[in-house]
Amino acid sequence: MRSLKDAKVKNKRVLVRCDFNVPLDDKGQITDDFRIRSTLPTINWLIKNGAKVILMSHFGSPEGNIVETLKMDVVQQRLTEYLDLSVVKAPDCVGKEIESWTKEMKPGEILLLENLRFHKEEEENDSRFAKKLAALGDIYINDAFGTCHRAHASIVGAPKFLPPFAGLLLEKEIKSLNKIIKNPKRPLVAAMGGAKVSTKIKLMKELLNYVDHLFVGGVLANTILKAKGMAVGKSKVDDEMIEETKKLNLTSQKFHLPIDVVVSRDVSGEAQITRMGPGSVGEDELILDIGPDTIKLFESIVKRAKVIFWNGPMGYYENEKFAKGTIALAEIIARSKAYSIIGGGDAVSILEKLNLTKNIDHISTGGGAMLAYIAGEELPGIKALKQ
Ligand code: 3PG
Ligand code: MG
Repeated sequence: MRSLKDAKVKNKRVLVRCDFNVPLDDKGQITDDFRIRSTLPTINWLIKNGAKVILMSHFGSPEGNIVETLKMDVVQQRLTEYLDLSVVKAPDCVGKEIESWTKEMKPGEILLLENLRFHKEEEENDSRFAKKLAALGDIYINDAFGTCHRAHASIVGAPKFLPPFAGLLLEKEIKSLNKIIKNPKRPLVAAMGGAKVSTKIKLMKELLNYVDHLFVGGVLANTILKAKGMAVGKSKVDDEMIEETKKLNLTSQKFHLPIDVVVSRDVSGEAQITRMGPGSVGEDELILDIGPDTIKLFESIVKRAKVIFWNGPMGYYENEKFAKGTIALAEIIARSKAYSIIGGGDAVSILEKLNLTKNIDHISTGGGAMLAYIAGEELPGIKALKQ
């Protein structure tokens, strides 16, 4: 894999895949811009070295449709503030018009393409689409560690048509994660939550082989509880993953599911909120957080840990009434003496809000990508840079 620093970028159109998939609040404002800030070293290096910089990213899951709230304008604005340079935004991410724009660019200029996932061809890894993206650059850089586990057109397709290099963030992530995944100190504890169940269930078999304790919360835990035949009421579950989940060794001693949960009839926080054992959840109730006994269990496991990594919230933390479990988990990890690694938009934004990032040893821009890398998978995006 060649580093960006080996590339001759002067006067070249450099097409950079970034992961600007930042969390938004219900007003469409960025709640945490860690992923944007993390890409600045690469952008600044390119500017300093006389490149014409073309940035591209996905944003949310518009699934091939143009979604107003997922346009890249908020990212453009934030980049402009940080770089103190004007960042022009293109109305699309492919096409002849944009191609001619890139040809008129001068060294030091920055063009931000519109959301890649407004075209379904991005996730389908369509090679004609990849070629159209590649037509916008002379050199390809991948600095989107957070998306390297997705075999999408901008990640694995475009680098087939241009000389590919790894960006500074990608290199830094790999270096930091390699430090702990090769011969880690033990016990090694993983905590996983959040909603992207399919990505995480697929990694669990490998993770169970690798870690000493695997602690699970969030929609991921709901899905596993349901697969085990327990009552989960109206809880959010990924039903398509139930069969896959049943194949896992769910009786492994390493595996820790919530022993108590916080439930309510809706997510508003206005209805009655109760704590109960999983399995006692009523048909009209939803699991929205982990309970205090589960937090204590987690704390006792973390006390002995030498390494801990965490991705994904433990419940519906967007409502503060159901954020207690996730906040407690963040505080326990921040207090622990273990080497700590945290990744993914939500976990990072919680730590920043609690002002605890300084207590964490490595903060990764990757969520699913970080887990996949730790699980020992060769990430498609990294593989694509080696050809
Ligand atoms: C992430 O948020 O983990 C990355 O940006 C990848 O996004 P995705 O899970 O929607 O593919
Ligand atoms: Mg995410």
